Amino acid sequence: MIRLAGVSRTFASRDGDVTALRDLDLDIAEDQFVAVVGRSGCGKSTLLRLMAGLLAPTAGTVTIDGAAVTRPRQDVVLMHQLPALLPWRTALGNVMLPVEIRRLPRAEHQARAAELLDSVGLAGFHQRHPYELSGGMQQRVALCRALIQRPRVLLMDEPFSALDALTREELATQLQAMHMSAPATTVFVTHSIPEAVLLADRVVVLSTRPGRVLRVVDVDLPRPRSFGHNAHVARAAEHIAELHDLLIEN
Ligand SMILES: Nc1ncnc2c1ncn2[C@@H]1O[C@H](COP(=O)(O)OP(=O)(O)O)[C@@H](O)[C@H]1O
Ligand SMILES: [Mg+2]
Repeated sequence: MIRLAGVSRTFASRDGDVTALRDLDLDIAEDQFVAVVGRSGCGKSTLLRLMAGLLAPTAGTVTIDGAAVTRPRQDVVLMHQLPALLPWRTALGNVMLPVEIRRLPRAEHQARAAELLDSVGLAGFHQRHPYELSGGMQQRVALCRALIQRPRVLLMDEPFSALDALTREELATQLQAMHMSAPATTVFVTHSIPEAVLLADRVVVLSTRPGRVLRVVDVDLPRPRSFGHNAHVARAAEHIAELHDLLIEN
């Protein structure tokens, strides 16, 4: 569904050109959950921005269903590390923002927004403002805002990195549940190997800059997975060890 073929991206800087990605090939199938891991600065955010149509490749092509990605699309949503909620809007109001911007039918989406908030444990918080919510709760709102449009492609750039460890595990588990009940093609950048092995069908390991695909590790563990259970599953431990070695050695 998403195909990157021979993709390179170079940035001009004062100290000369920086090549973030070089000659990267990657195929992602419909509804697959792909995690991307790699050292800081290896081009992970650049990769997502290319897929989101926010950046053009210097060489090569990015296509979704065979169509070149040249600008942002309505069915592709990018979610960041920080929630970036509008402070004057309630949780529900923030989730509804894309609906209003795109002038989608309000009543049916309002019901869906409420359901989404309930499903991530924010049942009593629809009318709260961001300053009344913890960082984890704000990021849950941002996740609902990303999902309200039922995107076909969900791009997530270290979405849980700013959260404490337990909140982070909770959110990863909720994301897994949401992906199981309503799958979307997902590309999830993370620094956490256990998180990648919890969530992903495949983990793409990028090399240090310029980023290329160093290895793709298939994670064929049954779902639902859990962090606690994964710690005692031999195959999960093997995946985690393999990914760890790949990241440390490269
Ligand atoms: N807009 C930009 N202008 C100049 N250099 C950039 C720009 N975006 C990214 N880079 C450089 O490209 C490299 C990869 O960046 P990035 O994709 O953000 O890495 P990662 O997300 O893996 O940490 C880095 O060296 C970064 O400094
Ligand atoms: Mg980044």
